[in-house]
Amino acid sequence: MKTRIYTWAAIALFSTNISFAQTKKPVSTADKKMDTFIKNLMSKMTLDEKIGQLNLLTGGEATTGSVVSTDVETKIKKGQVGGMFSLTTPSRIRKAQEIAVNQTRLKIPIIFGQDVIHGYKTTFPIPLALACTWDMAMIEKTARIAATEASADGLNWTFSPMVDISRDARWGRISEGSGEDTFLGSEIAKAMVKGYQGDDLAKYNTMMACVKHFALYGASEAGRDYNTTDMSLDRMYNEYLPPYKAALDAGAGSIMTSFNDINGVPATANKWLMTDLLRKEWGFKGFVVTDYTAVNELIDHGLGDLQTVSALSLNAGVDMDMVGEGFLTTLKKSVQEGKVKIEKIDQACRLILEAKYKLGLFEDPFRYCNEERAKTEILKPEHLDYARKVATESFVLLKNENNTLPLKKTGTIALIGPLANTGANMPGTWSVNSDLANTKSLLEGMQTAVGSDVKILHGLGSNLIADAKYQERATMFARDIPRDNRPEEVVIAEAVKLAKQADVVVAALGESSEMSGEASSRTDIEIPAIQKRLLQALLKTGKPVVLVLFTGRPLALKWESENVPAILNVWFGGTETANAIPDVLFGVVNPSGKLTTTFPQNVGQLPLYYAHKNTGRPLEEGKWFSKFRSNYLDVSNDPLYPFGYGLSYTTFAYSNLKISKNSFKPGEAIIASVEIKNTGAIEGKEVVQLYIQDLVGSSTRPVKELKGFEKISLKPGESKTVSFKITEEELKFYNTALKFVAEPGDFKVYIGANSRDVMEAKFALTRKFK
Ligand code: BGC
Repeated sequence: MKTRIYTWAAIALFSTNISFAQTKKPVSTADKKMDTFIKNLMSKMTLDEKIGQLNLLTGGEATTGSVVSTDVETKIKKGQVGGMFSLTTPSRIRKAQEIAVNQTRLKIPIIFGQDVIHGYKTTFPIPLALACTWDMAMIEKTARIAATEASADGLNWTFSPMVDISRDARWGRISEGSGEDTFLGSEIAKAMVKGYQGDDLAKYNTMMACVKHFALYGASEAGRDYNTTDMSLDRMYNEYLPPYKAALDAGAGSIMTSFNDINGVPATANKWLMTDLLRKEWGFKGFVVTDYTAVNELIDHGLGDLQTVSALSLNAGVDMDMVGEGFLTTLKKSVQEGKVKIEKIDQACRLILEAKYKLGLFEDPFRYCNEERAKTEILKPEHLDYARKVATESFVLLKNENNTLPLKKTGTIALIGPLANTGANMPGTWSVNSDLANTKSLLEGMQTAVGSDVKILHGLGSNLIADAKYQERATMFARDIPRDNRPEEVVIAEAVKLAKQADVVVAALGESSEMSGEASSRTDIEIPAIQKRLLQALLKTGKPVVLVLFTGRPLALKWESENVPAILNVWFGGTETANAIPDVLFGVVNPSGKLTTTFPQNVGQLPLYYAHKNTGRPLEEGKWFSKFRSNYLDVSNDPLYPFGYGLSYTTFAYSNLKISKNSFKPGEAIIASVEIKNTGAIEGKEVVQLYIQDLVGSSTRPVKELKGFEKISLKPGESKTVSFKITEEELKFYNTALKFVAEPGDFKVYIGANSRDVMEAKFALTRKFK
């Protein structure tokens, strides 16, 4: 394995012209000033004090592993803490910072982090849902609001954005990223970094971003969390690495290693990854932090004892050790024994001090501890209004037979299901700062929305969210899911009785928030059987049923798609979900969300993604099985709902696909345009998507790759022409020598409403091979 790592490290290092390489910027006066300040400070630091800066401890209860930091106060006094996370509020942070700047020899301030993943107290939809808005300005603004609130509460560093591409719905953490697509994921990565960091990190209301999880964490085998990854360079460079790089190019100040191993070497000890690629090839100047106890976990990976793995990790390029304290307890010994060079520690220490300098902490260590801001800027009405708007735009209408939706505000609605009357379940994974106890449930939201116009009948319908053992595991950090201890038949019969009295049934079903996210992998990605039995009983009443689906991952919904008239996927929509769902159900907002992950027909199709390779034996058009072709006996290759898919209460017609010329040379451009008409009766938003296929390449190329998109709004009857500029850049990819090139030849351009339903045209890039 080692030989292999070095082989491809060598390829990466010695190939010239890799476009990942950065151009050197001239040193600015500000940089010189910082340099002088830090040189001066470091000249006074002892080895122990330098090692202390590399130590990150947790100060709160929100932990994601079995180890919890202890004796934090004593350690701060001894200069053994460089950063802390999961400690919030200006008063608590001030207290810790005061110890650091008043009671240590060199008065070095602490950096304070937190997992501010999709909003802070005002919580936005989970990242996978946020991506479905396809609205970069909106996504940036959610990060801006998150930074405003978090910095008002004392924080200056967030462990976000999570940019891991994932194509396996079994992996619970697919909920934390933007989905399966490299291009879209890169755009979102940039937007989030901009939102968090603004244009000046030292401002009181910005915070430093931490890109994670470097790298390839989303490709863990079999979708099992923390599992091994093993990937070709082709896939790595073309599909999985670009979002990390995009976030760093947007200025992200830090990056977090991932738990997984990559081709035999865990990321946290992977020199190729953190030094050769990250520093030398990409020119990253910020600092690298490990994930939670990831240094210690190298022992279980089988790389040696704590001293050995700590040295390995530092030597590979890690600067800061999260929670495990391996750096703190062993690095000095390793220096004495010649296993670690003092220069390595100096370098790590310098990068961490630089981050603190850029955040303005040396100038004012209490810059982010403003009680007044905490009172006025957190959960501001305009933040909540925005959260409601964002949530409505993240919902994806998967099916709407006979215009079952929008609902009319008359008659009787039966709101049934174990997820109908829980507020705490709404915000989803990583909502550690959300006020869960005061988050409204869908039942409350519906009641507020309809007032006395509609009678709402509510029943739980299911005595558990999933079978008992499952429920126990998935709700370990329980989120207030109501239970009913009576026999299942009784609970269902009660719900059926209510359904029969209603004009329409709204079934609030799916996953509880703890069924996705970290350490929440599933091999069965259907709605849990116990809830399906309820759904079947509700459908048998003959009443129209609307499935309001809560989920943190793509689910396999084949049966539902065939039997339920309307399905609105609401993911986990954040603080304002309870208001946002009725907005869409009653047509105050017309849904416009589009999937950023493929929904499979069944779990056996995974990993399933639109940008797959053609293979040497693709299926003939229009067929779903053919012997000796690449397919299955029992299910077609088609997704249930493709990437980019999502319905509206109106309809859009695409016509007139035009390209400005049939061929072009490097330096020139082609304009591809299409006309979109709102052919329905109400105003709506549509995400127009551009895909390109490289028909002939020196290596195999995906059947389609997203290269552009535009979200437009059209009034009934209105038409718009949307144009995309295609240059050589859009055609480039990493070839087998890892050169980023556009190869002359034929291409197809596809424009449409999703990755499946497209119009197409052909063009050529003309140029001789050199
Ligand atoms: C997760 C990270 C997170 C860290 C700190 C880990 O378990 O993998 O995403 O930032 O905990 O809370």
